[in-house]
Amino acid sequence: MAEEAVLGHLEKNEEISDSGKFAEEKGISHDEIVNVIKSLNGFRLVDAQDIKRERWGLTKEGEMYAESGSPEAQLFLAIPLEGITREELQKKLDSSIFKIGCQQAIKNKWIEMGKSQVSRKVQHVDDRVRDLLLQIQNGEAVNAEDVDALKKRKLITPLMWKGYSVKKGPKYAPKRKKVATDLTRENLLRGDWRELEFKEYNFLAKGQPTEGGCLHPLLKVRRQMQMIFLQMGFEEMPTNNFIESSFWNFDALFQPQQHPARDSHDTFFLKEPSTTKMLPEDYVERVKAVHESGGYGSRGYGYEWKREEANKNLLRTHTTAVSTRMLYALAQDFAPKKYYSIDRVFRNEAVDRTHLAEFHQIEGLICDHGLTLGHLIGVLEDFFSRLGMSKLKFKPAYNPYTEPSMEIFSYHEGLGKWVEIGNSGMFRPEMLLPMGLPEDVQVIAWGLSLERPTMILYGIDNIRDLFGHKVDLGLIKRNPLCRLGL
Ligand code: PHE
Repeated sequence: MAEEAVLGHLEKNEEISDSGKFAEEKGISHDEIVNVIKSLNGFRLVDAQDIKRERWGLTKEGEMYAESGSPEAQLFLAIPLEGITREELQKKLDSSIFKIGCQQAIKNKWIEMGKSQVSRKVQHVDDRVRDLLLQIQNGEAVNAEDVDALKKRKLITPLMWKGYSVKKGPKYAPKRKKVATDLTRENLLRGDWRELEFKEYNFLAKGQPTEGGCLHPLLKVRRQMQMIFLQMGFEEMPTNNFIESSFWNFDALFQPQQHPARDSHDTFFLKEPSTTKMLPEDYVERVKAVHESGGYGSRGYGYEWKREEANKNLLRTHTTAVSTRMLYALAQDFAPKKYYSIDRVFRNEAVDRTHLAEFHQIEGLICDHGLTLGHLIGVLEDFFSRLGMSKLKFKPAYNPYTEPSMEIFSYHEGLGKWVEIGNSGMFRPEMLLPMGLPEDVQVIAWGLSLERPTMILYGIDNIRDLFGHKVDLGLIKRNPLCRLGL
């Protein structure tokens, strides 16, 4: 309707001089007319010129007075013929109306303000302020002096009005022809393609961005970690079981059953199936014995070891559970080995900027005759230097399953400080000997998270931006290739 009105008017007239007036005459909203003009102008059916006009509009306060009268008039009307005390009057009116009303009414000489009594000085007043505000509200002209006064009282404010004047454009037609965008089978069958006007091709338009699969930063860093392990001659361990029994996750690692990490505050236990069905019975017996009374030169922990506790299923809290299974298997027919794994683990922790309830652990171990702490330090220096961290420090630490144990720190040039990057140690005889490994065989091992180096490499400081349902897919699409060790 608006489009017909505009094109129809131009058919018989030279121009539409003011879209605002035009909209009013036709009884169509100005917004609608403006939209049509913009679209017709785009297709060059019309030629539109901007019109900008400043006009006055009411402020919030102005609107209030236009509705219920100026404060001075309200105040005047609140004073009875016989006069009133100041307190009484104040009670009858809103505090700002009273204040402003007094000022203006005194200025207008409408009232007499005695020591305590307020009385009318004139019989009747005209609320000119309200009348002016109503005129402005209706778009009527008001003289400059009055505008000035209202502006000073902040009752009106300038508004910008935007509209158009419109003439025929180079492609003017009384009716817009719908251009066809495609030549269809139906056009050919009907033969109407002869009359159709086709939309021109825009050869400069950009094509759709091509979409393709993208690797998550964690996958990219994992790949590089894998390559480092493979270059160092390590084999990957099969970590495709998130569910583990407490036995392989804790007991086989000489972790006592009362250990706080085995509490449901730190570990997710399974409801269904809640227990494991199969464990190697003779090995379970040896593990029970070493916990209760020791052996292999150890005194053990001296508590009553419970099978039910070992049977409980959980989401593995570290990939060391897998290392343990692998070492047990290896003990049945020993040969020196270098193993690694990178996979997910779960901890029942409070989630914050740097912790999630699940993360990825990188783990490496070497199992051979006569290994020492010196070998461990040497391997760690080799491994981490391939990640670009060649300044390392070690700090004594404690794990139930390693002795000695060391936390690994690296000097971070960017952060200008030492940051903890991993944990390591030599597996205890209480863990290795019940498996049946030869007595002179030692295992050196270390673990670190995949998230930490990934966050440092990609400059991400909140883990929830890296992993989980809040991750911006754009990050995964656009992230650069970050190479370790450069
Ligand atoms: N399992 C340890 C952890 O979860 C890492 C580790 C692996 C420590 C091997 C020592 C040896 O932090």
